[in-house]
Amino acid sequence: VFSEFIAHLDYPMVVVTTVSEEARAGCLVGFHSQCSIEPERFAIWVSKANFSFGVVLRAEIFAVHALDESAREIATLFGTQTGDEIDKFEHCRWHPGPRGVPLLDDCPNRVVALRTGLFDDGGDHLCVVVRPIHAEVGASFTPLRFQGVRTLQAGHDAREPRGR
Ligand SMILES: Cc1cc2nc3c(=O)[nH]c(=O)nc-3n(C[C@H](O)[C@H](O)[C@H](O)COP(=O)(O)O)c2cc1C
Repeated sequence: VFSEFIAHLDYPMVVVTTVSEEARAGCLVGFHSQCSIEPERFAIWVSKANFSFGVVLRAEIFAVHALDESAREIATLFGTQTGDEIDKFEHCRWHPGPRGVPLLDDCPNRVVALRTGLFDDGGDHLCVVVRPIHAEVGASFTPLRFQGVRTLQAGHDAREPRGR
């Protein structure tokens, strides 16, 4: 019933990108939310099974890209492919933003943010709390939501943590 409840919430999807020590990473994320008003904070939950997880642990800078309904291709690239096998950034248009974080050219609604904290409660996702330093809002858009991508097969199953 919990999963039905979550499905009804139908959260909007984002792509989170990051970079550390020259390694770039990015994945499709449904678990995210603003989590403080003053100061402004945003939380992102990253699966411990993902290639992105290893990069996130060392990274300071993040970009959160809102996805429009038309951004299915980007959602599919970042949600079904894994950095363990391909360089996703060879398959999309992007440019380096603050501190080298990859900004996706097809997703003009985005926030660039610096890490302020990590929280691990022992679940299969790690909570990364970030402080927005820059935001860009393009033309108005209709969010791509969970129901629109729920049939995508994730590049990594969160229930199979890395190294298991
Ligand atoms: C509908 C959907 C929602 C997802 N939500 C998240 C999420 O909230 N956090 C996360 O870390 N991965 C999430 N994923 C999984 C990753 O996007 C996926 O495993 C990706 O291929 C990982 O790429 P990486 O191994 O290069 O990091 C989701 C995937 C799908 C299809």
